[in-house]
This record gives sequence, structure tokens and C-alpha cells, in this order.
Amino acid sequence: MSHLIALVLAAHDTSRSAMTWLLVELDRQPELVERLRAELAVARGALEYEQLGGLDLLERVIKEVERLHPPISGAPRHVVEPFDFGGCHVPAGWRVYYSILFTHLMPEIWTDPERFDPERFAPPRSEDEKTPFSLIGFGGGPRSCIGRGFARLEMKVMAATLLQGYELSVPSGQDLRYDYTPTRVPCGGLRVRVRRRK
Ligand code: HEM
Repeated sequence: MSHLIALVLAAHDTSRSAMTWLLVELDRQPELVERLRAELAVARGALEYEQLGGLDLLERVIKEVERLHPPISGAPRHVVEPFDFGGCHVPAGWRVYYSILFTHLMPEIWTDPERFDPERFAPPRSEDEKTPFSLIGFGGGPRSCIGRGFARLEMKVMAATLLQGYELSVPSGQDLRYDYTPTRVPCGGLRVRVRRRK
């Protein structure tokens, strides 16, 4: 049972959270939606698996959502061996917490960190490659997310399908402050108006 709960939380709630913030960001940036549609125009109708790899802008947008709206804000680690870090001694047996949220907003790594800017992932900037653990929305090291590839692919397919076939808008007046359930979602959920494109 606990495995089932873990999988629902790890796989479903996280992906739901990421897709929610993707829709919020797309609604805020109509010109980005047009650029994404232009990228998708090369594929008429249903996308083939091979074409998904060529959607560079969509990939950057999904990464920027992961950076700015990480579904999980961090995770605990049990200290096996003592170590020193930033002038502090951390004894064995302690629990430490690594913060995804904090890392994703570090000005040492990211230019203008609060700004939604997918181009930060394009060469020559490639800000996510500055350190091995810059973009860690899926964790890092041996216990990082086993579903990372699947989740990114799933988001790409969902976003591409929505952008190709539908006009989406987020009605104003919604409470978009963060709630942790434990993944990050808007306080009052998110209502989106969906119309089929002509
Ligand atoms: C946007 C979607 C997702 C995000 C943001 C996400 C995020 C994460 C993060 C941050 C961790 C590491 C936690 C830690 O450091 O202790 C993790 C672990 C894990 N994720 Fe995901 N995840 C996502 C989707 C998925 C999917 C689709 C699956 C399964 C199909 C999945 C299965 C797992 C499992 C089983 C672990 C535990 C791995 C271990 O402890 O060795 N996740 N995920």
C-alpha cells in the first residue's frame, strides 16, 4: 500500500503540479504561445515520437517551469559521515534538507532568477550546465527521480496536444499563491477555459 501511495504522490501529483504551472505561464505569455505553435507547425496533426526530440523551445519552456515552479521544494537526507560545509560542522546521524527551491533561485547560477526566461537554457548561456546540480527539480545523485524522462516526455505530449488543438485561458481573480499538498499547486486549484481551435 505504501508503495502505491508513494507512486501516486511521486508520479501523479508532481506531474499535475508541473502541468498546472505550465498552463499559468503560457497564459501570462501569449507571444510565447505563438512561438511554440510555430515550432509545432512542422508537425501537422499527431506528433510522431521522433518529432518530440526536435521541440527545443517547448523543452526549454518545460525546464523553466521546473526551475521556477518546482513541484517538490526539497527533500531530507540522513548524514552517514560527518562533514564541514560553509563553516558549519554537520555530525553523523543528523538529518539535513536539500532545497530545490533555494537552488533554483540562486543568483550565482541564474541570471535574474525570478524572471521566467526559457532562453537561459539555450547555448551559449546554458545556465543549467554551470554546475552538475543547477537544475534539480527531479533531485540529483543516486536517489534522483526514476520517472524524470517519462515525466518530461508526458508533459511535452500534453503541452503539444493542448497547444495544437485548443485555445486556453486562465480566468482572472484566482488565488495563485502557493499551497503545498505536499506538491506545489495554486491555493484554490486552477480553472482554465478551454476552446477547440478552428
Ligand atoms: C514533474 C514530475 C516529477 C517531479 C518534479 C519529480 C520529482 C522527484 C524528486 C525531486 C525526487 C527525489 C526526491 C529525493 O531527493 O529524495 C523524485 C524521486 C522519485 N520519483 Fe519523481 N518526479 C516526477 C515524476 C515522477 C514519475 C512520473 C514517476 C514514476 C513513473 C516518479 C517516481 C519517482 C520515484 C519512485 C522516486 C524515488 C526514487 C528513489 O528514492 O530512489 N516521479 N521525484
